[in-house]
Amino acid sequence: MEWTEKLSVGVATIDSQHKELFKRINNLVLAIKQHRCKEEIDSTIKFLDDYARVHFSEEEKHMRETRYPGLEQQREDHKKYLAALAELKAQAALPRVQGSTYDLSATTNQVVVDWIVDHIMKVDMKFGEFLRSKGHT
Ligand SMILES: [Fe+2]
Repeated sequence: MEWTEKLSVGVATIDSQHKELFKRINNLVLAIKQHRCKEEIDSTIKFLDDYARVHFSEEEKHMRETRYPGLEQQREDHKKYLAALAELKAQAALPRVQGSTYDLSATTNQVVVDWIVDHIMKVDMKFGEFLRSKGHT
């Protein structure tokens, strides 16, 4: 999964945080694929979770400051993502047969990878359009 210009919202901080988010998600996907030990997968999820929180609050701050009307929808969406990550964390914490990481990787692809791409492409892009229409970028 790679960040491309096509995903640019037009705000430097947000774009660079999106890139970092992709990097962390890729690390997680890789850790699962390579059947890394439980501790490593757990800490990668925690890393991603911490970063997602930092990023969402930064995004929401920008939205508050520019009085973006879509802020509530964003907050709801962000909350759902953090809940999905919590679920993933719980799933990763379950005892599993060594090497059997299929479920974990399916959940990760569904809830972590698909969601973020979809969210950035659809919901965050609307914020970018809003900023452009107001002459903020
Ligand atoms: Fe967002």
